Amino acid sequence: MKLSVVCISLLVATACLAVAPATFAAEAAPDNPDAKCLKCHSKKLKKALEDGETMILQVAGDEFEQSVHQVIGCTGCHRDVPKGKHPSRQPISSRREYSLKHNETCSQCHAAKHMDYKDSVHANMVAAGDNAAPVCSDCHSSHSIQQRAVYEPVSGEPCSTCHQDIYDAYAQSVHGLARANGNVIREKHIQAPICADCHHSHDITAVSASDYLRETCLECHDGAAVAHEKWLPNAGMHMKSVSCAACHSPMADRRVDLQLYDNLKQVPVAQQDNEGTYQARLEEIDAAGDGLDSVELWKLVRQGSRQGEAIDVTLRGRMEVTTGVDAHRLAPRGQAVRSCESCHQGGANGFENVTVSISMPDGRKQRFEADKKVLNSVVSVDSVGDFYAPGGTRIRLLDGLLVLALVGGLAVPVGHIALGKYLRKKNRKQ
Ligand code: HEC
Ligand code: HEC
Ligand code: HEC
Ligand code: HEC
Ligand code: HEC
Ligand code: HEC
Ligand code: HEC
Ligand code: HEC
Ligand code: HEC
Repeated sequence: MKLSVVCISLLVATACLAVAPATFAAEAAPDNPDAKCLKCHSKKLKKALEDGETMILQVAGDEFEQSVHQVIGCTGCHRDVPKGKHPSRQPISSRREYSLKHNETCSQCHAAKHMDYKDSVHANMVAAGDNAAPVCSDCHSSHSIQQRAVYEPVSGEPCSTCHQDIYDAYAQSVHGLARANGNVIREKHIQAPICADCHHSHDITAVSASDYLRETCLECHDGAAVAHEKWLPNAGMHMKSVSCAACHSPMADRRVDLQLYDNLKQVPVAQQDNEGTYQARLEEIDAAGDGLDSVELWKLVRQGSRQGEAIDVTLRGRMEVTTGVDAHRLAPRGQAVRSCESCHQGGANGFENVTVSISMPDGRKQRFEADKKVLNSVVSVDSVGDFYAPGGTRIRLLDGLLVLALVGGLAVPVGHIALGKYLRKKNRKQ
């Protein structure tokens, strides 16, 4: 009875079809059992938890009535309640523990979302016991879940609840402003992106785990690769080795990050391997704790390569912005960093600050300070591999040619790029 009324009121035939086969309808007796629950749970009931906190047991009945789950009723999720005595006076150790347990119920009905979520950076953090990372109900709430449209407003909900500083930067960026003004890429009718459009909502990966974000940018801005080639020599290489934000977030501080990378498996090197953690190795090598110098870095890379199974460790250089906030402060194109000198001269913002990073089990980067000299030192040629640090002493010939390129326009860089490739090959052979 109840189910068919809901179907009519929703006026969504497919939703009814999706709901009808499931068995929870049997639990919804004609005299609305939810009202029974709410008789007590609309009151200010409380429960003392084992960790000393108090759990408020009051549920807003009107919000639940308006939610998508009105149709499944309270016991659609609280399957344990009708069984046995209620209230059961069962001890609950903490709010979080209760929440974790009851979120498993969500996955029983929304298996596809669970599959997306289960390998995400958030789920990995939850599995590792991180209480700040979100489970389903942290993003969706438990009792006032609305249709999908509600999760896509300009407010940045639900992400902004925890990533407020990033949301604030985003809101003032080209994308935040364009989204708020309803701007679209005209030819393609694509709206400017909000958090989930770039990061997804369930299968969110750590930003360092792959290059998927750059690809995401280029899916919308498919003319960008060609547009950069018009003024930037070897634009493809720049767009690989320099994060978009390093130029498009013009006020940001930059750094070079050297990520330990397994060339054989083509994945970032993981924190933990059979021989222990890199962190421990790193602390041993840099006993003084003053940041890795060239020799120490070389040792780290060498040690990595010698660990039991086949592994070929190198470092992947990338220029990026130093904070997650700056990564979202994208400015209109007129303000983007264009002058070559802002990177290609001694002491330029970016090459002064060097980190070495390792991938943690959840995919996020753990960074360690390194001496900026590692970029230029002869000792690190082997480990820093293909990354050419402008303004450095390592490959003076290339720097000389760069000056010529800057003076002589674009004709020289073409020859120069070819030479760059030659030098790289040479480096590899050494
Ligand atoms: C869509 C699933 C779902 C439905 C339907 C649902 N709940 Fe919950 N409820 C949860 C989850 C999950 C939690 C655990 C707390 C959290 O994660 O926010 C919870 C927690 C509670 C709590 C503990 C206090 C709290 O808010 O954390 C009470 C009491 C409660 N629910 C009562 C009800 C009542 C009464 C109804 C029906 C009016 C209902 N629930 C319907 C999922 C649901
Ligand atoms: C007679 C009043 C009453 C009714 C009816 C009632 N509850 Fe409760 N409920 C309580 C009390 C009191 C507690 C706190 C129990 C405690 O302190 O151990 C509680 C606790 C809870 C909790 C917190 C977790 C736990 O097990 O302690 C949930 C969830 C819950 N009730 C859901 C429901 C649902 C769903 C229904 C309807 C099927 C319902 N309740 C009906 C009084 C009631
Ligand atoms: C980090 C926040 C976050 C977490 C955690 C999360 N979701 Fe979502 N969910 C969203 C957002 C945002 C949307 C809006 C639609 C979109 O952009 O994909 C959404 C949409 C949905 C939808 C409807 C979307 C559709 O495509 O029709 C369902 C169902 C859903 N989530 C279930 C779940 C379940 C079940 C879990 C736990 C396994 C979960 N979500 C965990 C943020 C989250
Ligand atoms: C007993 C099955 C069941 C359980 C358990 C359940 N849901 Fe749902 N959920 C549904 C149904 C049915 C709908 C309505 C589908 C529709 O309208 O298309 C729905 C809708 C949703 C939507 C909106 C989807 C949309 O299309 O916009 C979200 C988000 C969602 N559920 C999240 C959750 C979360 C989070 C939990 C756990 C706290 C949960 N669900 C537990 C059955 C369930
Ligand atoms: C236009 C695409 C885009 C949008 C929209 C976007 N992000 Fe990002 N986000 C990125 C990129 C690219 C990075 C990585 C920057 C880098 O390469 O270091 C990033 C990094 C992050 C990080 C990691 C920050 C750190 O400390 O390293 C978090 C967390 C994050 N974003 C959350 C959000 C949230 C929350 C929103 C919505 C308010 C959002 N993002 C909107 C593209 C986007
Ligand atoms: C309940 C809090 C919470 C919510 C809600 C939440 N996150 Fe997170 N998220 C975290 C925490 C904690 C971390 C780990 C610390 C960090 O990187 O800020 C994290 C990490 C991330 C990372 C990885 C950052 C890295 O260093 O690689 C991304 C990307 C991200 N969140 C995006 C999102 C997006 C997109 C949403 C919304 C769909 C969202 N988060 C909602 C708590 C949350
Ligand atoms: C070396 C600095 C630099 C890097 C790296 C860079 N850009 Fe740009 N970009 C610029 C500058 C400067 C302009 C403005 C050019 C103009 O107006 O003629 C621009 C213009 C753009 C435009 C608007 C122009 C158009 O015609 O399409 C988009 C979109 C864009 N960039 C996206 C990206 C993306 C996405 C990335 C990363 C994959 C990226 N940029 C990397 C400096 C850079
Ligand atoms: C979902 C599509 C989408 C994605 C993904 C996306 N953008 Fe955009 N972007 C837009 C729209 C829409 C605008 C505003 C309209 C316009 O100016 O083209 C915009 C504007 C811009 C501008 C300003 C262009 C100008 O003319 O001033 C830059 C720069 C930019 N985006 C860079 C990026 C970068 C970097 C990424 C990836 C981190 C990215 N975008 C991801 C849709 C997207
Ligand atoms: C935001 C910083 C930044 C800006 C702006 C920038 N570059 Fe670069 N450039 C780099 C980085 C980082 C590398 C090293 C990349 C590598 O070796 O993987 C590089 C490498 C090069 C190389 C060597 C290419 C090779 O094949 O090894 C040339 C040539 C070059 N840049 C020219 C220019 C010119 C000309 C401009 C101005 C039109 C410019 N760059 C603007 C950061 C920048």
